Amino acid sequence: MTIKKKAEILEPKKIPEDLENEGSLRPQLLSEYVGQDKIKENLKVFIKAAKQRNEPLEHLLFYGPPGLGKTTLSHIVANEMKVNIRCSSGPLIERAGDLAAILTNVEPNSILFIDEIHRLPSIVEEVLYSAMEDYKLDIIIGKGPSAKTIRINLPKFTLVGATTRAGLITSALRDRFGITFRMNFYPAKDLAEIIRRSAKILKTKIEDSAILEIAARSRGTPRVANRLLKRVRDFGQVQNKEVITKDVVNSSLTALEIDDKGLDSLDIRVLEVIIRNYNGGPVGIESIAIAVGEEADTIEDVCEPFLIQLGFIIRTPQGRKVTDDAYKHMNIERREDSQGRLI
Ligand SMILES: Nc1ncnc2c1ncn2[C@@H]1O[C@H](COP(=O)(O)OP(=O)(O)O)[C@@H](O)[C@H]1O
Ligand SMILES: [Mg+2]
Repeated sequence: MTIKKKAEILEPKKIPEDLENEGSLRPQLLSEYVGQDKIKENLKVFIKAAKQRNEPLEHLLFYGPPGLGKTTLSHIVANEMKVNIRCSSGPLIERAGDLAAILTNVEPNSILFIDEIHRLPSIVEEVLYSAMEDYKLDIIIGKGPSAKTIRINLPKFTLVGATTRAGLITSALRDRFGITFRMNFYPAKDLAEIIRRSAKILKTKIEDSAILEIAARSRGTPRVANRLLKRVRDFGQVQNKEVITKDVVNSSLTALEIDDKGLDSLDIRVLEVIIRNYNGGPVGIESIAIAVGEEADTIEDVCEPFLIQLGFIIRTPQGRKVTDDAYKHMNIERREDSQGRLI
């Protein structure tokens, strides 16, 4: 009974990224999913093979920075396999019983999607191993000498895991995924296609040059591209523009403090702190986080991958360092004091 209750609590959960009403812009099929061609090609093969054998797809792991389409792709896989998908997230599955409640309720061959899978508590993770391998759950009931293990047979299912940080997943868990995909930042050409598609869905008229400008400033990330498009649309509407032009984009993004490379005020603060407070680094992520007043996780998940991709930050064993390119972008001269230290 308690198990059932928990399942009901878990079910209607809101994944944070859905808060910005991304639903309508989310592609439903592989053919609508822009870019990531290698991943799509491979997925097509695995999906076809599993369907031919009438078996569930192998367990899948998607990893990469937020907003690159991991959740979207997980739902697409379910649609393409024509199976149900149940969604949960690492921190929500607190105890082995929570996992049991979910897994005993999955339909045969369907998908269980666990977002932020790196945040699964280790006691849950250990129970998950046998579920993934043998479709069996070993649950310990009671404590001390009277404790008993019960074995529950599960329907065959596919676990789809998503994480922003593959490095935080134990190798034991990682090894149990048959297929692992790393999501990459999108080139501007793909982002332009995503923006064009979204503008159509939102019934927004937008010039090509305006699309390209948004694409160039979306940090290689579809979620950012869609968000900027929506904000630019707001500016255009208030300014009574029938069509969104590059000028509208430029003035809107300036108002939103997004610079020509797509850096936002947090990225800029991060660079500034490393340069001004720590002479360009190396400095640990915790110190940066305290100085900019953000969670270290946010900086590591959201800011850092893109700043590294741009070549503005490098990671060293001693901490993060900014590069000459970052100094140039920030328009700050790299100088040394009388002891030869950077100031
Ligand atoms: N390849 C893509 N093609 C079109 N839209 C995409 C693509 N990837 C992501 N999106 C859009 O970006 C949004 C964020 O994607 P999401 O799957 O939530 O990212 P993640 O789970 O990796 O954080 C989605 O709502 C979707 O509209
Ligand atoms: Mg997601």
